[in-house]
Amino acid sequence: MALITWSSSMSVKVKEFDEHHQKLVKLLNNMHDAVEAKKGNDVIEKVLNELISYTRYHFAAEEKMFDTHKYPGTPKQKQAHADFTKKLLDFQAKFKSGNAIVDILLMNFLKSWLTTHIMGDDKQYGPFFNSKGVS
Ligand SMILES: [Fe+2]
Repeated sequence: MALITWSSSMSVKVKEFDEHHQKLVKLLNNMHDAVEAKKGNDVIEKVLNELISYTRYHFAAEEKMFDTHKYPGTPKQKQAHADFTKKLLDFQAKFKSGNAIVDILLMNFLKSWLTTHIMGDDKQYGPFFNSKGVS
């Protein structure tokens, strides 16, 4: 069963970033599926790496757009992105050294961070970018 389902209520009114968020939801669900299917650490590591690298790609794309249009919420967003990226990289390092496991606690944390970030910080940039002709 999917851990998280993207719905139009999560739209940030910028097509490119809605697509990114949908892909993030998909990658998180892939991780959930892999854990539920009790896949080995090699498979889990692969989905974890994929989720982390796509998250970094997405944050970079958003930040580029923030900078281009001088979005006023940029410092708050960049700080949130940096804090979350650090958590992900710390976890990835622990996982690789055998000192952490991907479990439901981690996935619930990721689910909660992602939905809260999209519904809060990200939704705030929609009207701003729309006013700049980006939709
Ligand atoms: Fe985002």
